[in-house]
Amino acid sequence: MGSDVLTENPIRGDLFQAVEQVLKLTLLEEKLEATERLYKRWQLGEYQLCSAEPPCPIGQAGHPLKPELVPPRKLKRRRLGSPEGHASMLHAIAHIEFNAINLALDAVYRFREMPEAYYEDWLRIADEERYHFQLIQARLVQLGYTYGDFPAHNGLWETAQQTAGDVLLRMGLVPRILEARGLDVNPGIMEKLGSIGDRESVEVLKVILHDEVGHVKAGTVWFRYLCAQRDMDSEQTFEQLVREYVPYAIRGPFYEVGREEAGFTKREMEFLRQMDLQARGKPSACIGST
Ligand SMILES: [Fe+2]
Ligand SMILES: [Fe+2]
Repeated sequence: MGSDVLTENPIRGDLFQAVEQVLKLTLLEEKLEATERLYKRWQLGEYQLCSAEPPCPIGQAGHPLKPELVPPRKLKRRRLGSPEGHASMLHAIAHIEFNAINLALDAVYRFREMPEAYYEDWLRIADEERYHFQLIQARLVQLGYTYGDFPAHNGLWETAQQTAGDVLLRMGLVPRILEARGLDVNPGIMEKLGSIGDRESVEVLKVILHDEVGHVKAGTVWFRYLCAQRDMDSEQTFEQLVREYVPYAIRGPFYEVGREEAGFTKREMEFLRQMDLQARGKPSACIGST
């Protein structure tokens, strides 16, 4: 597509129009380049927070023809010990990072009433996800594979669609549930990759883990901001959202240090531990009694 954000003479001014163009891009290289350029231009002060038109209803964000998107149950489990299994694990991470670019861009595009610092956060995060994707994609290529070689599911974007109507819901569920889950599973994946001698990918995962703590933290900051604005208790609201939307999605063990750094309170962590116990069918103490 002849995107204005990719030419030397871009439309200047409307941030939301520029983000819409990047969101819609389907070619991988174009999307990565445009995401990087978008953040650079934002930092140079080339965009303003004015919008000529309201956001389009959420559809499917631009993504390449491959990977093929299939229901999660159709995804094959592969043994990490085989070259294919090794690549498929990295491919799953690449897919998460690719989706995370679109999720961060959509957090900018869709919600127009937030302070400037919100847009700075989510444009930076989109660019960091772009970087994470490239780091993992480089490892895939070194192993003789590329992004698109394995099927993948569309669950992450479905959460974007589910939360498109309310920025509080988006901040509660995307960074504070989905990305926070990424913090929990990252150390285990590092261990697995380390066990097959893939030190390079372990180093990449360290970079990702460090940045992702920042993404979850941004989610906490904006979630609390929105709760305060609406006169809602942020801990209670978080618990309500989890119970209503994603009670099945809470699984321990939790990466406690990272979650603490990302702003989860003691009460929120206790609540999550109880949800995990319930999901495992174990008896749990009274939630919220602390
Ligand atoms: Fe990431
Ligand atoms: Fe992230």
